Amino acid sequence: MAEDDLRKSHDELEAINRQLEEAHNQLLQSEKMASIGQLAAGVAHEINNPIGYVYSNLGTLEKYVQDVFSMIDSYEQAEGMIADQEMRNQLQEARKKLDIAFLKEDLRALMSESKDGITRVKNIVQNLKDFSHVDTTDEWHFADLRMGLDSTLNIVNNEIKYKADVVREYGDIPDVECLPSQLNQVFMNLLVNAAHAIEERGTITVRTGQQGDEVWVEVADTGKGIAPENLKRIFDPFFTTKPVGKGTGLGLSLSFGIMRKHNGRIEVQSEAGKGTAFTLWLPVKHQVQE
Ligand SMILES: Nc1ncnc2c1ncn2[C@@H]1O[C@H](COP(=O)(O)OP(=O)(O)O)[C@@H](O)[C@H]1O
Ligand SMILES: [Mg+2]
Repeated sequence: MAEDDLRKSHDELEAINRQLEEAHNQLLQSEKMASIGQLAAGVAHEINNPIGYVYSNLGTLEKYVQDVFSMIDSYEQAEGMIADQEMRNQLQEARKKLDIAFLKEDLRALMSESKDGITRVKNIVQNLKDFSHVDTTDEWHFADLRMGLDSTLNIVNNEIKYKADVVREYGDIPDVECLPSQLNQVFMNLLVNAAHAIEERGTITVRTGQQGDEVWVEVADTGKGIAPENLKRIFDPFFTTKPVGKGTGLGLSLSFGIMRKHNGRIEVQSEAGKGTAFTLWLPVKHQVQE
């Protein structure tokens, strides 16, 4: 009897210990995510300012260059009126040497390429800001999850573009009361996992939809799938099938915790060799738990 009691309290203690460990890990991970977010937001802020004036200066520069060229055009037209033959030859020589025609063409291309480049940097900075939600404190508010998906996709694009084509099939969804930056973390985990699961080249499909009072987000991949015996372990902290350095095994356990905080849930369907689909379910309105 005493032994039974002892065993029972031992098991209970073990269970509590596991819960504590899980809570501790999630805390560690969210701490890490928060500091990465802050770092990203700081960098974004620092870059924003110089990018702003480079962009604005480029606009002015383009106009000035056009003015200078139209002045050159006027000079060209007047060239015929120069009586001095030697002077005319000199001008012709200079034009040939400097290849003014090419310069004019190329300047236009250079300007537009530079503007494209700066616009891209501006977008990345904006995405970083959206992603880390520096403009808002981490508070519950209504947000369009498709925007979170888009900014997260832009951020992880580098990690997935060589592996997968991303297809967006967004259905109409209402705004959801949530902690947007934390949901972005979940999206990021699912997207990066999907890319990791694809060995050669594949497709990642991101879908959204509504059913009753719930909104769902699905991230589906055509990757290698999850072995049935692993399916119930993937949400465990530190469970990973990836080599050291590539996986921490924390992504899904963290995502699980975030979904729970939202009174939502996370479902997975997988077929070995075919692919995997994770579906997030979220209530539109956040219910405060007693
Ligand atoms: N889309 C997926 N396709 C195949 N396996 C997956 C997918 N997502 C997660 N997994 C499996 O779940 C494990 C745990 O995922 P996660 O918690 O994100 O940790 P990590 O990615 O660091 O390994 C992965 O190592 C992998 O075996
Ligand atoms: Mg992961």
